[in-house]
Amino acid sequence: MSFKDKAFLITGGCTGIGFATARHLLAEGAKVAVTDIAQATVDRAVAELAGGDRVIGLAGDAANTKAMAAVVAETASRFGQLDGLVASAGIRQRSVAITELTDDVWDEVIRVNLRGVFVSCRAAVPHLIASQGAIVTVSSLSADVGRLEQTAYCASKAGVAQFSRALSLELAQYNVRVNTVCPGSIDTPMVRKAQEQDGPQTLRDRVEGSPARFRAGIPLRRIGEPQDLADLIGFLLSSSAKHITGQAINIDGGESVI
Ligand SMILES: NC(=O)c1ccc[n+]([C@@H]2O[C@H](COP(=O)([O-])OP(=O)(O)OC[C@H]3O[C@@H](n4cnc5c(N)ncnc54)[C@H](O)[C@@H]3O)[C@@H](O)[C@H]2O)c1
Repeated sequence: MSFKDKAFLITGGCTGIGFATARHLLAEGAKVAVTDIAQATVDRAVAELAGGDRVIGLAGDAANTKAMAAVVAETASRFGQLDGLVASAGIRQRSVAITELTDDVWDEVIRVNLRGVFVSCRAAVPHLIASQGAIVTVSSLSADVGRLEQTAYCASKAGVAQFSRALSLELAQYNVRVNTVCPGSIDTPMVRKAQEQDGPQTLRDRVEGSPARFRAGIPLRRIGEPQDLADLIGFLLSSSAKHITGQAINIDGGESVI
């Protein structure tokens, strides 16, 4: 799989799944722009990627229209084209009962996770039409299964999956493909934050299952690695996936099967 002379933009591209994807695409010869909310996070990622003029880092809020317009314009201008967007920016919701879920938390989860995908896709689409490029959005297994005390997060991720499906229909006439990946539990800062917020047993509960949390566990008995996602996202962006669009693909060690 070679991405030589291809240019990609990754939101939330400086840690976790987005960062692993940036590293993967870079190793396959691509030019990569990573964007994230904080300048310090962006600077650290760019230094770690060490890709010279094949990497640019741009700070910006994925859900902010002006910020994403500027990020996309800068990426297209510096690389001369844009061949793909990976919309990975997202935030976790602290597990909380519906009666304790505040308006502010609900609004912020929906704003970043759902509006952020919409805003970044809308900004990138004109360039992707020009290049007949591809979009991969990052949803979650939580789009399809209920997670206890995760109502806002589940709603946001179901929205991402359905948004992506509808967009794939709209962009098919331009040969622009849109797919979404639905990770189960992946070892990233987000999952480590879940352990901090919900207790150290959380990781074991995810892998082994926990009757108390209504979880059956992960059949492959491991937490996924960010590289697992990078491999799938790279495939979906590549010409090997040229007949795949409008799909939501679970990548979860079999968790969705049981
Ligand atoms: N790790 C998992 O188990 C898992 C499971 C299912 C889905 N996901 C999804 O995968 C995506 C990536 O998450 P991750 O696990 O790599 O965690 P992560 O926290 O490492 O990555 C998310 C990134 O998004 C950035 N971000 C947050 N708000 C932003 C905003 N407003 N604008 C721009 N960037 C912003 C964060 O700074 C962070 O770098 C998220 O959408 C998440 O919901 C993760």
